[in-house]
Amino acid sequence: MTLVMSSLPFDMVDALQQPSLKERERALGVVYTPSALVEFMVRLARPARSGCRVLEPACADAPFLASFIRRYGCGYQLYGVEIDTAHLSRARANVPQATFIEADFLLWEPSSCFDIILGNPPYGIIGDGSHYPIHTLKERKTLYRQRSRTWYGKFNIYGAFIERAVDLLSPGGKLVFVVPASWLVLDDFRLLRAYLAQVGGLQVYYLGKVFPKRNVSVVVLVVEKGGEGLELYDGAEELAVVKPAYAGEMIRFERREWLEFEQNGVPLGDLFHVRFAARSPEVRKHPAVSTEARPAYVPILTGRNLHAGWIDYKTCYSGLWMPRERAVELRSFYGFPHLVVAHTKGARVVCAYDERCYPWREEFHLVPKREGLDLLAMMHYLNGEPVQRYVSDLYRDFVPHLTASMLKRIPVERSMLPYFGRPLSRNANVTLSG
Ligand SMILES: C[S@@+](CC[C@H](N)C(=O)[O-])C[C@H]1O[C@@H](n2cnc3c(N)ncnc32)[C@H](O)[C@@H]1O
Repeated sequence: MTLVMSSLPFDMVDALQQPSLKERERALGVVYTPSALVEFMVRLARPARSGCRVLEPACADAPFLASFIRRYGCGYQLYGVEIDTAHLSRARANVPQATFIEADFLLWEPSSCFDIILGNPPYGIIGDGSHYPIHTLKERKTLYRQRSRTWYGKFNIYGAFIERAVDLLSPGGKLVFVVPASWLVLDDFRLLRAYLAQVGGLQVYYLGKVFPKRNVSVVVLVVEKGGEGLELYDGAEELAVVKPAYAGEMIRFERREWLEFEQNGVPLGDLFHVRFAARSPEVRKHPAVSTEARPAYVPILTGRNLHAGWIDYKTCYSGLWMPRERAVELRSFYGFPHLVVAHTKGARVVCAYDERCYPWREEFHLVPKREGLDLLAMMHYLNGEPVQRYVSDLYRDFVPHLTASMLKRIPVERSMLPYFGRPLSRNANVTLSG
């Protein structure tokens, strides 16, 4: 059975006519789910009764429906939704028992809800083709945003799929999706996490990088509508965290050791403002910035100049130079020695002390909130083993970088703070001894 619910946007028709299958699939976020993972998820989706309504959104050739029938038989009402006609014809051949709908799942309005929704939605930030993978849907982004109550920041199409699928669940219904792990920790998903906590009980199975040739760490998310609390599993079996009253906070591997570490310390964010460097476009258009090295100009530094405990002040990876004393025109904190922490080196902390006050185009910059902090000792502490273990254990590889929120929560041992000076006043003349 086939229902045609919507036509493709103009630029998507264009994209679908592209000769390269690979390009077309990338533009629609196509990633095929390994069969062992499909089977694991179908097991989690166990139906409570026969005859219930089962939906696979973004189904491509409907691997989840096919596996569902193999495991539980045909006594269910099965539906698949897919935007791409070519995929749909394969789905119909693969699962002739199901009803397939050609539609944009995020705009689709079915007449009834579903008891089970399972699958692998597309992943990617929606935007311009030169920057973002999901660009064929760019024209529809405003509509998606208008309809979503959890869209925040850049968001990601998979977040919109989670929200829409939860809304289409019947009371007591179950969602089983495999999605990137980034929603566990990124601020872009804080509204989504809060919404999920409000509508159901969550089980999250952290599986790591299980998609061949894809450098993305994933989780299987189970939402039981009307339930409550959170269970985080390390892999398919090991229950690692239980929160009977989950309210939407970051989801982390909060073992007792790390909770005690946090309780006994002062969050780094209480001691420092975490600022980000001047962005590339701003740096490029500054009148004192040059693409050539000139006498008395210094390189504008990037993450490649930053190492644990030291800064390479010589190599110009950015290809940009400027007079050092004008760096403050980009950011005032370039004007005094301060700590710099890497943003893009995975879930580890790489910190150095910029004693020469150079201009930067990347990374986090720690601006003290209080007097009397020993910055060199702080640098050694942040690069040290306990902090590295804390960060990598709590956040694994959920995202390929350290976020400002993670950085602000790092506990600083109280022994590091022999003298807790008064807060710096707004106009304080900052002189910090290394
Ligand atoms: C990650 S693939 C998953 C394929 C399949 N479910 C699997 O697990 O092997 C995502 C699928 O979503 C489809 N898709 C992308 N955007 C969509 C949308 N807005 N509505 C419906 N399907 C969409 C793509 O065409 C693609 O087939």
